[in-house]
Amino acid sequence: MQALVDRIYGTLKARTGEGRVADYIPQLAKVDRDKFGIAIEMVDGTSFVAGDVDEPFSIQSVSKVFTLTLALGKIGDSLWARVGREPSGTPFNSIVQLEHERGIPRNPFINAGAIVVADVILAGHEPREAIGEILRFVRFLADDETISIDPAVARSETETGFRNAALANYMRSFGNIHHAVEKVLGVYFHHCAIAMSCRQLARAGLFLANGGRNPLTGFGVVSRERARRINALMLTCGHYDGSGDFAFRVGLPGKSGVGGGILVTVPGRASIAVWSPGLDANGNSRVGSLALEAIAQETGWSVF
Ligand code: DON
Repeated sequence: MQALVDRIYGTLKARTGEGRVADYIPQLAKVDRDKFGIAIEMVDGTSFVAGDVDEPFSIQSVSKVFTLTLALGKIGDSLWARVGREPSGTPFNSIVQLEHERGIPRNPFINAGAIVVADVILAGHEPREAIGEILRFVRFLADDETISIDPAVARSETETGFRNAALANYMRSFGNIHHAVEKVLGVYFHHCAIAMSCRQLARAGLFLANGGRNPLTGFGVVSRERARRINALMLTCGHYDGSGDFAFRVGLPGKSGVGGGILVTVPGRASIAVWSPGLDANGNSRVGSLALEAIAQETGWSVF
């Protein structure tokens, strides 16, 4: 397995120059496009890694898997009255569906859906408390107290997140955002700015590969049924309008972020995190998805 990971890393390393680094968040534009890491954490505790696997990067939308898990823990299935469970077929920051669908976002992984999830987590708290709760939860999942939020990225996004402000205000006009928009966006921007390495991210996702329980710490996170459902949403909605293509090519539940990270679940076997900042037209890591495609092909790992 390690030889396989080394080979895939070696082949694709030459292609990290492909794709464009996200530049609509100015702080992300500064990231070195040649960074590339692959971390596979098996449920039995072994791991196989290659490349830049210990360097923290901005996990961006991958954090939506963790906030969804947290929000479901708070309000359970009543969340689904405010957020749908269908692929959107539109870009991650699209506003169009909200008009016809009464301010109910299609799913929790597009920005609008994640902003509703942030509103749920904010309930009864000040933003700093909600942000602290999310960070503690991610540290608990990864079993790593060193994980932190990059304040420069959070600030950069706060200064330029006009589209997200529009989404939040628009949903608030339908009554689907319950708190002050600036507070909800504060929570959203900060959880997107969580910085993690490939190794930390793969570990944080292990509970999804192991029926809801982190096999390294033994802690139960969610029920088996909930883990299955979160994986189902990752498979159908985790790559926005590229979700069908990712399922076709990789065949595993995955969640991408514009920082170039992708977290993938191999149910019953492993959690994989890859990082390569060059993005394709849908905002998903180009070389990262090629690496996952190669891993899936060569191992035969698939949910199909
Ligand atoms: O809201 C944004 O635009 C970013 N914080 C997150 C977007 C993102 O990661 C989309 N992923 N491909």
